Amino acid sequence: MKKNVILTGFMGSGKSSVGRTLASKLGFKLLDTDQMIEAAEGMTISQIMKKHGEEYFRQKEKELLKQLSDLPERHVISTGGGLPIAPGNAEALKQAGYVVYLRAKPETILKRLSGDTTRPLLMGEDKERRVRELMEYREPIYTRGCHLPIDTDGKSLLELTDDIVKRFNHIR
Ligand code: S3P
Repeated sequence: MKKNVILTGFMGSGKSSVGRTLASKLGFKLLDTDQMIEAAEGMTISQIMKKHGEEYFRQKEKELLKQLSDLPERHVISTGGGLPIAPGNAEALKQAGYVVYLRAKPETILKRLSGDTTRPLLMGEDKERRVRELMEYREPIYTRGCHLPIDTDGKSLLELTDDIVKRFNHIR
């Protein structure tokens, strides 16, 4: 396994904020797959999905994943919530680094994302139902596709990052 840390988890599970703190603690570079796709396409995720559809976005994620497997070490990679879900992606992530799954309860996600307008997948009528359905489907895939699952509910950023650093230092 390469010495990168990869953060996975549902939208709103805290991948971006944990990623930033973790990268600075480890002295690693930070990458964010959503930001990389947005930069390459010159559009936000919402615009990409609106213009080209979700399948196109998933294809971009798959292409990016190929590039990530060539990445040198010492990176923290924050992934889009759906990236590990397509067949083969979770396995490829596990090859690219130490995969940490940030687990959060649907209630926590809904609280964190109340008022959010940047997640096209959650923009329909019944957000709670959508979160619960998507999460139920994805949970076993996130769990199988990680080296370390971490419960985030009620934990501070500091607690979470300290925990991850400890576990990562233990295996590297
Ligand atoms: C998605 C999660 C988003 C973004 C896109 C789709 C998903 O990233 O990639 O809106 O399918 O869960 P975040 O997990 O950073 O919100």
